Amino acid sequence: MDLIDLRSDTVTRPTPEMRRAMAEAEVGDDVFGDDPTVNALQERAAELLGKEAALFVASGAMGNLVAQLAHLGRGQETIAGSESHLIDDEAAGHAVVVGTSIRALRERPDGTLDLDEIVGAFRDPLDVHEPITGLVALENTNGHSMGQPLTAEYTRQVARIAHDRGVPLHVDGARLWNAAIALGVTPGDLAGPADSVMCCLSKGLACPVGSIVAGSRDFVWRARRARKLVGGGMRQVGIVAAAGLVALRDGDAGMITRLADDHANARRLAEGLAALPGVVSPGGIAQPAAGPLDPARVRTNFVIFGIQRDRAAVLDDLKARGILLNAYPHGTIRAVTHYGITAADIDRVIAAVAAALRAAPAIHDVDAPTATSPTSTRSRD
Ligand SMILES: Cc1ncc(COP(=O)(O)O)c(C=O)c1O
Repeated sequence: MDLIDLRSDTVTRPTPEMRRAMAEAEVGDDVFGDDPTVNALQERAAELLGKEAALFVASGAMGNLVAQLAHLGRGQETIAGSESHLIDDEAAGHAVVVGTSIRALRERPDGTLDLDEIVGAFRDPLDVHEPITGLVALENTNGHSMGQPLTAEYTRQVARIAHDRGVPLHVDGARLWNAAIALGVTPGDLAGPADSVMCCLSKGLACPVGSIVAGSRDFVWRARRARKLVGGGMRQVGIVAAAGLVALRDGDAGMITRLADDHANARRLAEGLAALPGVVSPGGIAQPAAGPLDPARVRTNFVIFGIQRDRAAVLDDLKARGILLNAYPHGTIRAVTHYGITAADIDRVIAAVAAALRAAPAIHDVDAPTATSPTSTRSRD
């Protein structure tokens, strides 16, 4: 039985072309700046994101960390969404490594932060008691709102608020490529207003490893130094960067335009799930309105839903049927579509969820209705 793994788009494997490019990559010592493949990837990424320069890093979390190190000094503070990856899912790197605090604002169901609340979250630089606001961070797409894409206009408005106060804007664009496809704009349009952007290669673009941090030449120099500090200076790393160069090619030769298939598959999944008895709105910012799951909430490759059954039992049953979904916060389940998943796979998942729901005890028959699965299906990445 083929496994259908929808826990995350991080589970994607490199394409045959990526593997070939990796095997044949020209390499050098990247800490000396000598790796031609890394240099080509960084130039290509900077061009796509409309920035002066870019830096190849090991992961999205490292990208966000080095961006914070490049922007912030100890004792400063970042304004960010309360359910953002930066706050919840990076092992408090902002506190442990950067030495900063976070002012968390609640995201809205469209993935944005309220502009007036951002203005109100800035500290008084003349008050000796307060931290100093040093950064505003957005997440695009916004994960917990079911992967909503944030528009260039919204990003511009936030940048204006930050810049008027002498503070930079960082975009955690782990899935910025998905946002660009969903909105019909370029990645550069979305990154343009920000001072720095982090984008992952190892999610929907299917590279095995790596993320990009981009910004001004000066910012990237500081980020490079920060990357060294956290032990992220790698040597003949062109071997993995080669996959990124394949991913970032134009059109069908690359992996960005293909993301539209993932979005269509996610919508197909949500439509199928919404018709099943026992599938309901996930609540929270994923879909605030109670009642049935609303497939129109699916704009990119995330489907988050609630079930009126024991979640652990359903996830275990699905696993036995060869389908992996993810126990997500607030008692919900997440499915993420990605490279390698077909419409036929989606139909198999819908049928399996229907069967698992029929077999599972109703929520009032179990002791712990929101118990998390004891299996290792948990991931928020
Ligand atoms: C929004 C967001 N930012 C950052 C990251 C971190 O990426 P990585 O898993 O490569 O560290 C993720 C991972 O899924 C993410 O979803």
